[in-house]
Amino acid sequence: MTSPERRTRGRTARSRLRALDAYLCRCERPLLERQDGSWREAAFLDVGFGEHPWTTLESAEAFRELNPSLPVIGVEADEGRAAVAVRHEDSLTRFRHGGFDWASTASQPTRLVRAMNILRQYRPEDVETAHAELGWALLPGGLVVEGSTDTQGGITVAYLLRRTPEGLTREALLFHTDFHHGFAPLLFRDWLPRDLRRRVQPEEPIHVFFTAWTQAWTEAREHGAWEPKSAFREGALRLAASTGAVATEPWLLENGYLRWQPPSGVPRPNPESPPI
Ligand SMILES: C[S@@+](CC[C@H](N)C(=O)[O-])C[C@H]1O[C@@H](n2cnc3c(N)ncnc32)[C@H](O)[C@@H]1O
Repeated sequence: MTSPERRTRGRTARSRLRALDAYLCRCERPLLERQDGSWREAAFLDVGFGEHPWTTLESAEAFRELNPSLPVIGVEADEGRAAVAVRHEDSLTRFRHGGFDWASTASQPTRLVRAMNILRQYRPEDVETAHAELGWALLPGGLVVEGSTDTQGGITVAYLLRRTPEGLTREALLFHTDFHHGFAPLLFRDWLPRDLRRRVQPEEPIHVFFTAWTQAWTEAREHGAWEPKSAFREGALRLAASTGAVATEPWLLENGYLRWQPPSGVPRPNPESPPI
């Protein structure tokens, strides 16, 4: 099991992952609703829920609007936090002590695995193994969501990793802002997943992406989209037109979501260049 380098404070906040909940309810509805065969038992697994299981319980409530019998399991590496959370259990909601590989060792089929604000404390080279462990018990088509937010959840960046017949694919990188800090693409840099955060530098695919996004956003502003929300939306449409790799559903762009989905998956960092 990939283990944390040190015991962490487990800081979390109510509503921190609400934007992700809204995205998943809107864009992954069939995944949350499915009931055929093994899907009936397939859980939403929230790994590393922190010192209080607030975000797990909030997501359970949101997802059960679509699937009232959805099993929800919160898993925590800190045994004391897992023990305290047990008081929030009910017939469909459980809390367990464990790590990224909990679902595979417990033989628990999963449809959705979330690990938010966890890997910031790990080394970049741990990320691939952590993703593999998180995705091990997913049913085909299931999803791992792994990334970071700011303390209140106003800025989010997360990998969307899909279980396919070829294995766990790096399907997309999802960005969200509530615009409380205004907007510029590089606003997201400090919240990139652990393996990309220090890679926004020349010769790196993530740098190429941010350069193209910044150019598209600058052009949108030059054409009159000054206000942060319209600059975000118009810039995203320009970026979609120039790259063909950005989702353009109006709901996403009107609500501060940008999903980057290159056809061959989110590129890995350049192995030849050291992180800054
Ligand atoms: C910063 S809190 C994040 C809480 C919540 N997910 C959020 O986004 O607000 C990180 C938690 O992850 C837990 N953690 C770290 N590594 C873990 C692992 N391998 N398996 C399960 N939990 C882990 C820590 O004990 C800590 O409570």
